[in-house]
This record gives sequence, structure tokens and C-alpha cells, in this order.
Amino acid sequence: MNRILAIETSCDETAAAVIGDGRTILSNVVATQIELHRRFGGVFPEVASRQHVLAIQPVIAQALAEAGVASVRDLDAIAVTHGPGLAGSLLVGVNAAKGLAFAAGLPLLPVNHLEGHIYSNWLDVPERSEGRPTDNFPVLVLIVSGGHTELIEMAGHGRYRRLGGTLDDAAGEAFDKVARLLDLGFPGGPAIQQAATSGAPTAFDLPRALRHAPDHRFDFSFSGLKTAALNLTKRLEQEDRDLRDPALLADIAASFEQAVADILVEKTADAALLTDARQVCICGGVSANRALRATATARLAELGLPLYIPPLALCTDNAAMIGAAAYHRRQVDDGTGDGLAIDVHASLPLPEIA
Ligand code: KG4
Ligand code: ZN
Repeated sequence: MNRILAIETSCDETAAAVIGDGRTILSNVVATQIELHRRFGGVFPEVASRQHVLAIQPVIAQALAEAGVASVRDLDAIAVTHGPGLAGSLLVGVNAAKGLAFAAGLPLLPVNHLEGHIYSNWLDVPERSEGRPTDNFPVLVLIVSGGHTELIEMAGHGRYRRLGGTLDDAAGEAFDKVARLLDLGFPGGPAIQQAATSGAPTAFDLPRALRHAPDHRFDFSFSGLKTAALNLTKRLEQEDRDLRDPALLADIAASFEQAVADILVEKTADAALLTDARQVCICGGVSANRALRATATARLAELGLPLYIPPLALCTDNAAMIGAAAYHRRQVDDGTGDGLAIDVHASLPLPEIA
């Protein structure tokens, strides 16, 4: 079996995994820094890189031990995220990977973090009843994370065409900002979802931006939604409503969540129809969202299109997806091999078909 050790440190998770044949999770270790960053209300870059330095060796050791890898030399390659992400954080993973690859004489495979998210859906997850996508292309992919919101047509493994994306905030960023506005804490996505549990998604009418914008058919905009949420809270305060009232908060959170889910799903479904997609994948931290999952499942069932969303643990950042992406990229880019000269790229785009 081909075994790749994958390392991911692009943001606030120090992660390492061993992946067999590009799809089997032999180990998947994630050390999250959420508690450290909570008091800053967001990811504090210097704190993140310092914490990666502390965590990286034990996380790698644990991933190797759990996968039963006695020596790094027994592996086939080392994969590492080299962008996009926080430069100081990426550097920790890249340097660790270089050291291991050099010492063991193994190929070093640089991975684009967005391509990693895409391949989170290609991992074998026994508990997922729908299985994994087949090689029936084109596959329409929606990436929704803290830093990105992208609609991608995947023509084959490693072959991408960007259809559109956010013009301003990423979907996850909107969750994080609105959570801060509502004083719900960090990270915003899970906090809003939790607050929304008993709320009515139809309680407040929030905008679905660029819905009928011919020049931006597959683009998104979330900054207006954030402003609309701010204006809503101001109006409610003027009406002497108590914004700490859990029932009111639940209605705001549920209405916000549904506005995000609706526009994401509507444009994903339109793009799938336009590109004649055979399958649809959603990935990235926001794909953990319950409202998004439910809305997408219902809409794609109407269209009769298979939909894949990773299990929750593989939605947010992890190294298993990096290993899967590295394996598949190696199949298409023969000899990506010796990448000891790789550098970090804070704003690395997804490679597109020429
Ligand atoms: O993919 P990810 O872990 O990191 C990036 O590559 O950005 O995504 C993190 C983002 C954060 O903005 C977080 O608030 C959001 O994903 N998120 C969620 C949920 N869980 C995480 N958003 C909505 N609902 C969730 N359950
Ligand atoms: Zn990510």
C-alpha cells in the first residue's frame, strides 16, 4: 500500500495524518488552537505559528504511531500544505516536512490547501452511507471555508475551472463576524449553529446577494449580509428588544444561517446544471453547517444529483485531506517529486486547467 504522511499547518490547526492509497485514513491527528485564540476573538497569527512550533513534532509522532509506521523511511512520500494560509503558520509545517523528507530521502509533495479541501470528499469514511464520489466527471465543487468561497468545475482529478467565488467576505468569515456582532464567541460558525437550534429561519428577512446578477452568476457577496445583520440588531435595540434573549438570538442566528445556506445552494445547483455535472461535492469548514447540509441535500435530491459532504471532522482543517490530494495530484503531475525547494505562498490560487 502507498503510504503518505501529510502535514497541515495553514491556519490554527496543527495536523498530521497517514493516508493509504490516497483514500484510507490510517491516522488523522488534529491539535486545535481554538482555546488559545478565543480570547482574541479570532486567529492571532503570531500565536498560531508559535503554537505550531510547539505542537508539530508530537502531532507527527502520534500520527506515525497510530498508523503503525515504525520509521519514516517506510513511507512513500511526505505531503505538506504550502498555501494558501498564514505565512508564519505554513512555514512551520513546510520546514518540518522538508526536514523529514530530506532525512529519509523521500519525495516532498507540496499541496494546495483548497485542493486538500476538495479531496476531503474522496477519503473513505465507512460510516458515510453514500460512499465517496466516483470518477464520473465533471464534478461541481463548492468550497466554503473561513478564507474561501469558491465554485469549481472539476473536469478530472487535479483539473479545475473556477466558475466564481466571493467578491468580498468568505462564507465562514461572515459567520465569524456575525457571531462577534451577536456576542456569541469564536469560532463563529459552530456558535451561530448552536444559537440557531430552536430559531425560526424565516423570522427575519436577510438578503441573498447577487441572486439575479447576470455578470456575477456564480459569484457571492457576504459583506451586505453582515451589514444587514448589524442593521437588524440596531433596529431591534431601538425597539427595546433584548439581544441577549436566547429566543430572539435563535431567530436572528437561524435567519442568518438560512440566508447563507440558500444562496450557496442556489448557485451551486445552478452551476451543476449549467456544467452538466454528474456529482456535486461541498467541502470546507462551513460545510459542517447543519442548515447548509440540509438545504443542499434537499435541493440536490430534487435534481437527482449525488451530493457528497464530508463527515464533520473532515470539513474543518485536517491533514487527511492533504494526503488524499497529494496522492491524486501525483497521479496527474508525474514526478511532482523532489520539492525540497518549495516555499510557502500565503495567497496561492487553485491550479486551473490552461
Ligand atoms: O476550513 P476551515 O477549518 O479553515 C479554513 O480553511 O478557513 O474553516 C473554518 C471556518 C470558520 O469560519 C468557521 O466559523 C466555519 O468554518 N465553520 C462553520 C461551522 N464549523 C466551522 N460555519 C458554519 N457552521 C458550522 N457548523
Ligand atoms: Zn481550510
